Amino acid sequence: MDHFSLIGGAMHAENVPLARIAEEVGTPVYVYSTATLRRHAQVFRDGLAAVPRKHLAFAVKANPNLAVLRLLANEGFGADVVSGGEMARALAAGMPAKDIVFSGVGKSRAELAQGLDAGIGQFNLEIEEEGVVLSEIAAAKGMRAPATIRVNPDVDAGTHEKISTGKAENKFGLPISEARAIFDRLAPLPGLDLRGVAVHIGSQLQSLEPLERAFERVGELVRELRAAGHTITHVDLGGGLGVTYRAGDNPPSPAAFGEMVARVTKDWDVELMFEPGRVICANAGVLVTEVLWVKPGPVNPWVIVDAAMNDLARVALYDAYHDVAAVRRTGERMTANIAGPVCESSDVFAKGREMDAVRSGDLIVLRSAGAYGATMASTYNSRPLVPEVLVSGDRFEVVAQRISAETIMAEEHVPDWL
Ligand code: LLP
Repeated sequence: MDHFSLIGGAMHAENVPLARIAEEVGTPVYVYSTATLRRHAQVFRDGLAAVPRKHLAFAVKANPNLAVLRLLANEGFGADVVSGGEMARALAAGMPAKDIVFSGVGKSRAELAQGLDAGIGQFNLEIEEEGVVLSEIAAAKGMRAPATIRVNPDVDAGTHEKISTGKAENKFGLPISEARAIFDRLAPLPGLDLRGVAVHIGSQLQSLEPLERAFERVGELVRELRAAGHTITHVDLGGGLGVTYRAGDNPPSPAAFGEMVARVTKDWDVELMFEPGRVICANAGVLVTEVLWVKPGPVNPWVIVDAAMNDLARVALYDAYHDVAAVRRTGERMTANIAGPVCESSDVFAKGREMDAVRSGDLIVLRSAGAYGATMASTYNSRPLVPEVLVSGDRFEVVAQRISAETIMAEEHVPDWL
């Protein structure tokens, strides 16, 4: 459920007409709904009601906007971060350092030190040498770094190959078959408080089955580690729950996920950690764009909009589907291709899409754009960085300004010797 709906034939975000935002802020523009974000946070929390000890860490990569992070901090979420930049954002948004989990396959030494200095709650290690180096840096600071090892359970998540992370051939995690031996070697290091295991097998999962298989393997590992004398107090189950992008998608609900988790983990006796991203924010955002031209085509007309693959990369990267709707509905329909102005044939949002009929100057929305949208934007073709707006009830505010080509140019420099 979201709060983008038609009121009097015009699409609104909560009580604000999207046309008003487009007029005041310009297009393209991402628009997020506070009520939807809050609701998704609550549904996720409620789904896990049967899990006694838990930590919720929003995957910042899905939507790192400071206002979104602040809203989620207010909802009791910490952060799952994968870079020093994301860590700085989570802290700047007011998330307590102890609620921050640092994931990622390529943390630099400087980023490990940054995490220690900030006093973050946990490091998820993905390389044995990373554990050795973290221990050295921590010990030199007179600290012990709370850490888990992230295992690769070799489970096919059944999702797009570019967002699968839990197969043996993926770069992520330590092979689960070697996890026990690596844990044995890392646990005694003086700068580590090695306390658990982490897993994350992929994103936009449409079935609980691969998650359950992965969690069962992690459960076996926890038993094995305890039998070997290790103290295991934390297990991080990652993120990955899919969302509905198009009618007919049927992703598992947070309630079904919570029921499965509670069942599989009932005798683990640990604090469970979760890193949801998409499920919290994807359907809490839309990308509003203006139709620049309707260009006749050999099969279908091309609706050329002012948003492009640099603003929303998901279609070009993963052949993702984003629902399209006119901001003002006339009831007329057309079949069209929708594309942006970027000079690449992959800058196409939809082909042969049955949609509301539109003309040049009309506004349309690309829905479900609140996750992995603005954050993956670039300035390709020297286009400005797309702005973001947060709506709450009948008010809205720009929470990220459009960054112009001139501003970006100001950071560049032509050497005197040219
Ligand atoms: N934890 C870890 C360690 C992750 O790598 C990810 C996502 C998450 C949590 C959050 O996963 P979620 O709940 O959002 O599925 N750009 C792609 C998605 C990449 C996901 C990367 N990792 C897309 O637009 O579909």
